[in-house]
Amino acid sequence: MEDSHDIPRHIAIIMDGNGRWANARGLPRVEGHRAGAKSVKSAVETCQQLGVEYLTLYAFSSENWKRPKKEVDALMNLLEKFLREKLPDMLKQNVRFHSIGRHDLLPEKCRRQIEQASADTQNNTGLNLILALSYGSREEITDAARAIATKAAAGEIDPADIDNELFANHLYTSQFPDPDLLIRTSGELRISNFLLWQISYSEIVISTKNWPDFRDADLRAAVEEYTRRHRRFGTV
Ligand code: FPP
Repeated sequence: MEDSHDIPRHIAIIMDGNGRWANARGLPRVEGHRAGAKSVKSAVETCQQLGVEYLTLYAFSSENWKRPKKEVDALMNLLEKFLREKLPDMLKQNVRFHSIGRHDLLPEKCRRQIEQASADTQNNTGLNLILALSYGSREEITDAARAIATKAAAGEIDPADIDNELFANHLYTSQFPDPDLLIRTSGELRISNFLLWQISYSEIVISTKNWPDFRDADLRAAVEEYTRRHRRFGTV
């Protein structure tokens, strides 16, 4: 019998291989990102169909700022356009939008769309779509350490009370459960500064497909792999 615990409650994805997808077709890298945005739409739809509650996507890392300005600008434009165009769909489909990362570094036009999408969808009760933007896990952890140290220095926290739960409550992800399943595309076997604290117990599935080719059947296959492992552990 199908048990709802077989479906991961939270899926996190490192969307990799857009550049290689484009290169293999003799296209500019931005075309890979554009095709990647279609896979984002597909992943959201599949998660809704499967009943996944949280989907976190690594859309722009702290390190991505080091890419050529032309590519960074193209990614920011794509992001702004994606949020603007998809907001009506998110409202219709009951998706609640969130974003994690150092938003102060993002262009004003992106910040505005992020704020609007977050505010307009805050009462939705369906899939939580979380975009990691200008995100780095070490930065997140040091931000949390600074916030806790500031409270300790002000006498609001007793250092003796700092435990896993208190620490997790100071991360950008404090309101979300940890990911059950972490997927990385394009065959790379790295975590790349993504949710280091939160993936302590996540199952990891690597797909050799580049992100623009990673669609419905691929996500379902990754979830099946998760379910298979989970069921096995359940019987021990
Ligand atoms: C990694 O591929 C992907 C990114 C750095 C950006 C991800 C962005 C998108 C999927 C499109 C826009 C996002 C949204 C939410 C609309 P890569 O460029 O590192 O690929 P490579 O390793 O083959 O060079």
